[in-house]
Amino acid sequence: ETRELILAIESSCDETSVAVIENGDQILTNIVASQINSHKRFGGVVPEVASRHHVEQITLCIEEALQEANVTPEELTAVAVTYGPGLVGSLLIGISAAKAFAWAHQLPLIPVNHMAGHIYAARLVKPLEFPLMALLVSGGHTELVYMAEDGSFEIIGETRDDAAGEAYDKVGRVLGLSYPSGKEIDELAHKGEDTYHFPRAMLKEDNFDFSFSGLKSSFINLVHNAQQREEPLVRENLAASFQASVIEVLVEKTVRACKTYPVKQLVVAGGVAANVGLRAAMEEAMAERLPDVELIVPPLRLCGDNAAMIGAAAHVELALGNLATYELNANPSLVF
Ligand code: KG4
Ligand code: ZN
Repeated sequence: ETRELILAIESSCDETSVAVIENGDQILTNIVASQINSHKRFGGVVPEVASRHHVEQITLCIEEALQEANVTPEELTAVAVTYGPGLVGSLLIGISAAKAFAWAHQLPLIPVNHMAGHIYAARLVKPLEFPLMALLVSGGHTELVYMAEDGSFEIIGETRDDAAGEAYDKVGRVLGLSYPSGKEIDELAHKGEDTYHFPRAMLKEDNFDFSFSGLKSSFINLVHNAQQREEPLVRENLAASFQASVIEVLVEKTVRACKTYPVKQLVVAGGVAANVGLRAAMEEAMAERLPDVELIVPPLRLCGDNAAMIGAAAHVELALGNLATYELNANPSLVF
């Protein structure tokens, strides 16, 4: 009887997170220390501030995780860490901590791609079946990823400009919301209606790519023009109209991708997968148009950045024999 215990570390952006994952799919603990209150007044994540917070938090989080999981370092199988993509200074804090811990306790070191982590969050919900399609929607990424098997990632479509989460955050700034504004716009949208009819970018094009900068510009222009003419705007309807445009394009292109590729499952992952409207629309569209494809959307706490998803991905990397040496470096622009 084997008990595989992975200590996973995530520090790519503005959350310091440490998790202990048993046998690849059981979360013994998943500590997430968010720094968001330190960044809000700057309207975005300040890399230097983020690094400092990670330094302050990382050892405490590791100690707390082991205590909460009731696991000693000697019982661990391996240490996993995100090495990209992300902020270089933030990544380096997690990597240094992981190396030091691995060295001190003579444990293997598993390098994990943050975006693979977002997809493998789904593994904490249900066993994955291949081939599968993943819609990855976060603050920095919007892409459709085809996975023929574990560890194989083919980007079949992606955004040509802004990521979906980035569009949410920029539009939120115009509405005077604090960063990050995805969740608040989602809530506002549910109190409004699609009265402004923003464009649906690239919907007619026969590919799996996205574009959100045109929508963002339409939104900003509409608000500025109305403000200049002192015309009233209905915030709830603005949010609902923006969200309707984002969701329609994401859902439509994802359904098309799942019809084109022979997939058994669809995983929707990343911070924007927490969007209540997107989750509902995707569920409805898939049930209606592709009832044989199983939809997996991780619970909200596993959609945002967290170390449990890194541990889930690390389990697969370990099985594939993908280990790092102490030469492991941060790769801020890591792709699959
Ligand atoms: O994956 P994540 O936590 O960090 C990155 O790796 O980027 O994603 C953060 C993004 C932010 O842009 C945030 O506004 C967005 O996810 N987000 C949402 C919602 N919750 C978070 N966007 C839309 N609706 C939400 N409910
Ligand atoms: Zn992320």
